Amino acid sequence: MKKTGPVQNEAQHASAIQTMFDAIAPRYDFLNRFLSLRRDVYWRKRMISAVMRPGAWVRTLLDVACGTGDVAIEAVRQGSGELSVWGADFSCAMLAAGKNKVAPFKDQIHLVAADAFFLPFRDDSFDAITIAFGIRNIADKPAALKGFYRHLRKGGVLAVLELTTPQKGFLKSLYLFYFKRILPLIGWVVSKNMGAYQYLPASVMGFPPSPEFATMMEQAGFADIAWHPLTFGIATLYVGYKK
Ligand SMILES: C[S@@+](CC[C@H](N)C(=O)[O-])C[C@H]1O[C@@H](n2cnc3c(N)ncnc32)[C@H](O)[C@@H]1O
Repeated sequence: MKKTGPVQNEAQHASAIQTMFDAIAPRYDFLNRFLSLRRDVYWRKRMISAVMRPGAWVRTLLDVACGTGDVAIEAVRQGSGELSVWGADFSCAMLAAGKNKVAPFKDQIHLVAADAFFLPFRDDSFDAITIAFGIRNIADKPAALKGFYRHLRKGGVLAVLELTTPQKGFLKSLYLFYFKRILPLIGWVVSKNMGAYQYLPASVMGFPPSPEFATMMEQAGFADIAWHPLTFGIATLYVGYKK
């Protein structure tokens, strides 16, 4: 299993991630929009439209690592009035930062404090599960994917949106320069947390290549897996089904 930084085991890793997101929560949304030039908004839209594809029957959606609730809100915007969305995240500060944003959708969005490995839901209970920019923070990805598979009903869809590294020469160099040199500086100025914005490029570069991640999904039980590079491969959307 690949580890990021000096953290040696899953529990320590999770606790460091939780502390980091608790610390940056108040500036998280602003920095997300600013550092991605609002591409993050478009990427989430793409993820939800893949989940709500024509003919899909999505009445219950679980957004794991929901942070401040952006995916949940987008799901309600694109879904039917009958859609119920559950958002789970282990950072209470991230959930608190999203509380006012989801308030207008309180009949449809329910946020819960929960770890991705200990989700307080029954097996086979969701039509769709999403996770945006969350899976790279989870050290034991195969175990997390197996859990998502268990919580989906038969025919349900999993969509994983993650930051990835562009593969092409010049663009890759430019991107890596921005990501490793400029982005941590901006992150530090705005959030006063240099560590979090140094961790970001390290965690993205430690994320497995798309074919490898697709194989992990397959080994967790998912079928008909496809992946779609977005914005020159700066992000990738992975989709798979529980048959
Ligand atoms: C980069 S943020 C993404 C938030 C949100 N999905 C979005 O689209 O902006 C990653 C989130 O994953 C959460 N997270 C990381 N590991 C987690 C775990 N094991 N269980 C629950 N939440 C986790 C963090 O607390 C954080 O809110």
